[in-house]
Amino acid sequence: MPDLIETQRIVHSYLSARVPLVVIRSIEPTRVMDMLRGCASALRSMAYYEHSRTEGLKDLVSGQTVVDDTSLASALEHARVTFKARNNVNFVFSDVEDLEQESSTSRHLAEMVRLAESRSGSIVLIVARPVWSGLARLGMSVPLDLPSTDELATTLGGILTDHQGVVEVEWGHRELRQAAEILSGVTEMEAVNVLMTMLTKRKLLNSDIPQLSEYKDRIFGELTGIERIQLREDYRVGGLKQLQQWLVDRETLMKADLSQTSLHPPKGVLLVGVPGCGKSLSAKAIAAQWGLPLYRLDMAGILGMYVGQSESQLREALDTADRVAPCVLWVDEIEKALANGGGDSGTSKRLIGQFLYWLQESRAKVFMVATSNDVTTLPPELLRKGRFDEMFFVDLPDHHDREEILQMYFVKYLKTDLSPALATQLVAQSEGFSGSDIEAVVHGIASRMFSRGTVQLPSDEELSDWFSDVVPYSRTNAEDVAALRAWAQGRCIPAGTTPSVVPVGGQPVRRVVIS
Ligand SMILES: Nc1ncnc2c1ncn2[C@@H]1O[C@H](COP(=O)(O)OP(=O)(O)O)[C@@H](O)[C@H]1O
Ligand SMILES: [Mg+2]
Repeated sequence: MPDLIETQRIVHSYLSARVPLVVIRSIEPTRVMDMLRGCASALRSMAYYEHSRTEGLKDLVSGQTVVDDTSLASALEHARVTFKARNNVNFVFSDVEDLEQESSTSRHLAEMVRLAESRSGSIVLIVARPVWSGLARLGMSVPLDLPSTDELATTLGGILTDHQGVVEVEWGHRELRQAAEILSGVTEMEAVNVLMTMLTKRKLLNSDIPQLSEYKDRIFGELTGIERIQLREDYRVGGLKQLQQWLVDRETLMKADLSQTSLHPPKGVLLVGVPGCGKSLSAKAIAAQWGLPLYRLDMAGILGMYVGQSESQLREALDTADRVAPCVLWVDEIEKALANGGGDSGTSKRLIGQFLYWLQESRAKVFMVATSNDVTTLPPELLRKGRFDEMFFVDLPDHHDREEILQMYFVKYLKTDLSPALATQLVAQSEGFSGSDIEAVVHGIASRMFSRGTVQLPSDEELSDWFSDVVPYSRTNAEDVAALRAWAQGRCIPAGTTPSVVPVGGQPVRRVVIS
């Protein structure tokens, strides 16, 4: 799609060539009018009039009212008389109804175009939807896309300059670019409204940036097919160091201005692994750390819809994700929707195709975090190299990671640090525990203290008893865990730093980079 400069160049060339009908497709009539004023000042030898239902017929350049009656009928009548009397006159109509089909209005306009042609006049129509072919054939059409990030940055920058000295602005060039990126997909007027609303606080801080996505959500109203997840600040993930490290580089790419490069933004990551080890938590933590909104795509819900409905719903959901970009899009337990043979198999195949196509083709800054607890049923196409940027295996935490997780939840729930001796003891005792198992135990201890109205921490022996009472998932489902590890070997990169040494049967995972 052409941007403002390109559209202006095209319109300018049509007007110079005296094309009798120029149809400009846009949902931003005000922006198109501004653009046309630019064309008018470059082609000064001609006269220009604009009509809207609210303002009636006015001179495009001076803004002076030409006819008191604001109706379209009287504007068209004025155009008819003017075309007959003079050469090289242009009439711009911005909100004419009933142009999509053959109607009395569209036929009337077609007659006017023929009249204009005979006197080197032009009619310019600003329309949101395509016009009736009988009319469109008489001239040329050009779209004006929504403002690009560059244009938004310029517009927003202009507003900030206007408010210099009146409002305390912390934003620099980088924040301005970021704001423009977040707001991309909205109209210029909507972007201006958002910024003006934020400026009413008389302060514009760097920490206000995430608010922009909330405003954007409001502009889009009901989101289709994806759900906005409200983020809390404190998503802390213990362990998974290799994943964290890998994410650092993607964050740079997600936030950078890639428009001057041939790079494309990261697509996302597939997290496979043992239940309760931090896959879903990581999805939330990534969005929170990157300061991007998190949306959840409910694939299972989409698949459960009526035949034929699920495809259109998925398309809408993915379109919505592209529009709300930059964002993190979370597909939890992707196997539940995309499993081979899940649901009506024809539908599920088409959905997989549609999903993969989007994953491949979308250039929007949508970072997908897909998670899966059971990979055996996942379609092989999804796992092929190049679909996701990387696949990570999230194993049970090793002893370092368990210590970190224990510390984390002792501080969070029991408001105390672990002593080194107790740490050694509990780390050993919690072998085979998932992060979620550890959290559950510590939370249980804190809840008991709370209900007994005590702040006195139980003795080390009692604390240790709490841990020995737990039979973790990895023990009751040792075969499943072993099978998962075997599967991941050679396919995934371990999300943790060290190959797991947790003996639940099966081979420990070695650090293999998928080829
Ligand atoms: N590595 C971890 N660090 C900190 N907390 C964890 C970790 N893994 C699991 N938890 C705790 O267990 C809960 C459930 O984990 P979750 O991320 O939902 O597991 P899954 O891997 O099955 O998606 C988390 O919300 C968090 O409270
Ligand atoms: Mg999960």
